[in-house]
Amino acid sequence: MGSQWKKDSVYKKSVREGYLARSAYKLLDINERFNIIRKTDNVVDLGAAPGSWLQVLRTMTNGQLLGVDLTPIVPMEYVITITGDFTTPKVQEKIMELMPFVNVVVSDASPHLSGAKAYDQARIMALNEDTLRFTELLLKQGGNFVMKSFQGIDFNDLFNQVKERFYAVRVIRSVATRRGSTECYIVAKNFIGDADDDRKRSSE
Ligand SMILES: C[S@@+](CC[C@H](N)C(=O)[O-])C[C@H]1O[C@@H](n2cnc3c(N)ncnc32)[C@H](O)[C@@H]1O
Repeated sequence: MGSQWKKDSVYKKSVREGYLARSAYKLLDINERFNIIRKTDNVVDLGAAPGSWLQVLRTMTNGQLLGVDLTPIVPMEYVITITGDFTTPKVQEKIMELMPFVNVVVSDASPHLSGAKAYDQARIMALNEDTLRFTELLLKQGGNFVMKSFQGIDFNDLFNQVKERFYAVRVIRSVATRRGSTECYIVAKNFIGDADDDRKRSSE
């Protein structure tokens, strides 16, 4: 199945255009439709390996970029990369220390899928909830957030949690997502946040 996917036209295009993964087109598509990233934004990319979203982000902003993944990210000029689990306090603290002022959080993170649907869906929902909780700590008021998810059990609860925290939220399918996949992206703009955010963080 892997080799069949590798030969699809989006994959071939990504190789031709020098992207590290076909996922690059997902972020390009999302940003074209929803204008998530502005020229000076500082962006954190969760689940960033091998690094195609970072390649794309580099063309979208001159701000500071940080990517984190369980597996090493291809090194890039002017991009901070961390190898680690972003759901752990140690890695979260390191990211917050390196990126005190974050305008946008993007997450393409997904666990390694086993093929057992109910089990995979539960793990994805758990990762999405951890991602949302960390994003609340990281993001400044008014910031934007993109998170990969999969439609299925508990997705609506997750979506409602995001809706409580941002002024504008949509669920979209990217044009680069494979046919038949339940993959979707939650695109959330204008983080409601908390007026005490900066004080809370500096007193911790
Ligand atoms: C689809 S890939 C990301 C592709 C990436 N956006 C790109 O364009 O190159 C999903 C990634 O999420 C990472 N991941 C999953 N859970 C993670 C976690 N808790 N902490 C860090 N990375 C995680 C995986 O290691 C995997 O590399």
